[in-house]
Amino acid sequence: MEKDGKSMISKAMGHVSLVIRKCLFSILSMGPVPAHIAFIMDGNRRYAKRHALHQDNTDPNSGHRVGFKSLISNLQYCYEMGVKYVTVYAFSIDNFRRDPHEVQALMDLMKEKIDELMTEGSLLMKFDARINFWGNLELLTDPVRLSAEKAMDMTVHNKGPILSVCVAYTSTNEITHAIEASVRERKEKVQIDVSDLERNMYTADCVEPEIIIRTSGETRLSNFLLWQSDFTHLQNPNPLWPEFSLRHLVWAVLKYQKVHGYLKKHNGETDKNK
Ligand code: FPP
Ligand code: MG
Repeated sequence: MEKDGKSMISKAMGHVSLVIRKCLFSILSMGPVPAHIAFIMDGNRRYAKRHALHQDNTDPNSGHRVGFKSLISNLQYCYEMGVKYVTVYAFSIDNFRRDPHEVQALMDLMKEKIDELMTEGSLLMKFDARINFWGNLELLTDPVRLSAEKAMDMTVHNKGPILSVCVAYTSTNEITHAIEASVRERKEKVQIDVSDLERNMYTADCVEPEIIIRTSGETRLSNFLLWQSDFTHLQNPNPLWPEFSLRHLVWAVLKYQKVHGYLKKHNGETDKNK
């Protein structure tokens, strides 16, 4: 009985928050809604430390687990808002230099979460979303790579929004990869131009991000989407990634809308997002 009451209350709360989000998003839709938002999900370990999530140090993933929850909520808000592309920086090539225990734990977590995303009823399935994994996937452990490849195959024909997860990724590695691919394509020609490289970037099928958000107040891009961010609005809000919530996302879009006219004017000649 008590359980029924609790589930009714949580259902009602869920309904109310959905109505609030719908109102907020319809207000935001009066301005330009970005087609592509990219996130550098920074601050998971600081969050774990601050909240003493792993005092006994047994689970190096405790912060990343809350970080994954934050990813799912923000993804849902973005998709409800009509953002077609969301790209997240989940693991850089440089992150392989972290404590091997943490790297292995993160690999295990990623496999677990990728498999979870592919189950019926997951957020990606509800939105008929497609998932990409961008990076040097050869560097991943076999179980993560296989799960990632399976997830890409399973969703390749989905017609909804797109989630791109950068793993074993750095922008310079992506550019090198694109140069190599362009050289292979154009072996008979000496000259390679920008359009060759763009065709061979992981991002070839999507527009440039209008906003890149790096949480935890950090102001570096850390080798993320360097090629694709020439006219992107960079934001570095203070909350750690697990704390980044609906209000922060709405604020980020409002800030982008405020400067959109200026960005558009200065991006006039090279705007690839038109
Ligand atoms: C950065 O915080 C976060 C990471 C290196 C990992 C993020 C990964 C996830 C949330 C899981 C994603 C999984 C899928 C399947 C998409 P940090 O470790 O740099 O924290 P700190 O800056 O406080 O040290
Ligand atoms: Mg960090």
